[in-house]
Amino acid sequence: MPGPADRTRGGVALVTGGGRRVGRAISESLAASGLAVAVHYGRSREAAEATAASLREAHGVPTWTFQADLAAPDEIGGLFERVRDVCGRLDVLVNSAASFDHAPLAAIDAPRWDRAQAVNLRAPHLCIREARELLAASAAAGGAAAVVNIADLSGVVPWRGYAHHGASKAGLLHLTRCAALELAPAIRVNAVVPGAILPPAGEPADSPAWRAAGERLPLRRTGDPADVGAAVVFLATASFVTGEVLFVDGGEHLHGSNKR
Ligand SMILES: NC(=O)c1ccc[n+]([C@@H]2O[C@H](COP(=O)([O-])OP(=O)(O)OC[C@H]3O[C@@H](n4cnc5c(N)ncnc54)[C@H](OP(=O)(O)O)[C@@H]3O)[C@@H](O)[C@H]2O)c1
Repeated sequence: MPGPADRTRGGVALVTGGGRRVGRAISESLAASGLAVAVHYGRSREAAEATAASLREAHGVPTWTFQADLAAPDEIGGLFERVRDVCGRLDVLVNSAASFDHAPLAAIDAPRWDRAQAVNLRAPHLCIREARELLAASAAAGGAAAVVNIADLSGVVPWRGYAHHGASKAGLLHLTRCAALELAPAIRVNAVVPGAILPPAGEPADSPAWRAAGERLPLRRTGDPADVGAAVVFLATASFVTGEVLFVDGGEHLHGSNKR
């Protein structure tokens, strides 16, 4: 039976939104585990190229960058054609790219609802669908043949002001289980639910509010993007695990309405 390192060595991972913040840490952990990494980006070309270059240098693995607007289904098809042509194989798909839109329920009109579902739920589904053949080939060759979807706690407990976002992430968790069942035995599909890892873009990580958010958690601190990367590597290589959801949230999901 091949061990985890055998299942990643020589393989290729694609990380959507893999050039910055949490996606970058996932790319970094996968590269450190020996996988070549295809870094997908939407608008952040410079960040994606910098990430790809730094992974190449630090871990000696091949890296590539690929642009696609994941809200556009035809661009997703094109993305996987390019991955097939350029990388030649795909062993791990990480659906990390997402929007994070706040709006009170009354302000969520049809376009706003649709935008959240398009990026956070439809795109992961279409990516999995487009990746199937490549991942099945990975399975046949003894590779990892794994999908890891990145959800969040709004898909497990309701957050005020995030009905559209939370519904998309809840859908992603259910899609994880549906795909795990339907794509077995060749392809495993799992999810990570990060908690308070990084404050929203533009907000400082050393602010009193962010520290206080950490102190309210059972583990009394916020997490690190590398914690999410480590969970992704685990699920990418855990050969008897499928349809599972791994919380990386300092215990936040245990709270319910009891905040301490
Ligand atoms: N930050 C946290 O503490 C936290 C907590 C729980 C869950 N998560 C989850 O972890 C993942 C990453 O979080 P993050 O905070 O690092 O996210 P982020 O800063 O909001 O970045 C979102 C990423 O998604 C990409 N993206 C968004 N819309 C896109 C589109 N239409 N087409 C292509 N790419 C698109 C962006 O790429 P470009 O910049 O290239 O456009 C960017 O790389 C997300 O799934 C998020 O829900 C994060």
